[in-house]
Amino acid sequence: MEKDLASLLQSYRERAGLKKAQLAQRAGVSPSFVTYLEKGQRRPSLPMLARLMQALDLTASEKRELLQAGGYQPVEELAPRLSHIGEQLAELPQSERDELIEEFSRMIGRWRELRRKRVRRVVIPIAGWQPRLLSPEQLGKMLRPALEESALAGLSEVILVLAPGKAAPALKVPHGLKVRTVVQEPQVGLGHAILITQGVVGDEPFAVILPDDILLGEGRRCMQQMLALYEEYRCSVLAVTSVEGAADFKNYGIAQLGEAVRENVYLVTGLQEKPTRGRRTGLTIVGRYVLTPQIFEALQATPPDKNNELQLTDALNILLRRQRISAFVYTEKLFRVTPIKILLEQLIDALDES
Ligand code: G1P
Repeated sequence: MEKDLASLLQSYRERAGLKKAQLAQRAGVSPSFVTYLEKGQRRPSLPMLARLMQALDLTASEKRELLQAGGYQPVEELAPRLSHIGEQLAELPQSERDELIEEFSRMIGRWRELRRKRVRRVVIPIAGWQPRLLSPEQLGKMLRPALEESALAGLSEVILVLAPGKAAPALKVPHGLKVRTVVQEPQVGLGHAILITQGVVGDEPFAVILPDDILLGEGRRCMQQMLALYEEYRCSVLAVTSVEGAADFKNYGIAQLGEAVRENVYLVTGLQEKPTRGRRTGLTIVGRYVLTPQIFEALQATPPDKNNELQLTDALNILLRRQRISAFVYTEKLFRVTPIKILLEQLIDALDES
């Protein structure tokens, strides 16, 4: 009888003489995640299964068995399908065939390039309402945690998006970081602030830190953890956190999550920017992103919202039709600078009720 993935994993682990915690450490996951897998309560993603197979030191046929039990196709089963595509291609008229082959080569080339590229740059937008109210010294202080987080994550270049006519902030730049600035002329949203950095970022994955979400304590390793996820899954990664109260829905971007990839990491199934009505579920987006360069094409295709602003969340929703996006659940200390507009709304609501 065919064994299921959970019992196969358990028997291979026991054969290797590993405790759950030991396997977890080798594969870089939490022990509870291994427990979930062995109880059949979670299905590992393909990269995760590959790491487990490596940690368990399996033979080729054991790997095949495990892949099949996990619902994945072993590579040798894909090969005949590829040759079938080859046969179909051969039947096409030459011009169509050449076009398709060129498209395939472009896709493969781009994929290879993306695999090679590491994230080096971080965009930090400070052209919104709040930063405009601060002096260069105050701005410098506010940016300190974001710069430290970037340095801890091993990033090497910061791109600050400034408001026009605003003096550059007085920065204490950690060792190893280079800072460049870009000016956002019209004040038309976060998506636009990201879009204008395209010339500097180029065709590379990059990080985004919104410095008014201040991460404290161990939380300062958030970007580092997100970059590790990017390296592993090669898709955009968002940080999300649980909703504290109903007002969070209208104040933040909201991500709906699907399948768990591993502990605290999920696939994103949908996104909404500050939804005000309808069925609202999900987690709020924290201002930390790792983005593939295709976000720029998505931003170009994104219509402005009702306030004529270009929203990054809307562009991510477009990107989601083409690429996977994962969400990292941030559970450490978070200090959110509440925008003045929200404080005023809260005050007016309180007056209404008084
Ligand atoms: C931005 C994003 C929103 C995200 C938030 C995090 O909103 O658009 O999706 O939840 O940052 O702080 P903003 O703060 O610019 O209104």
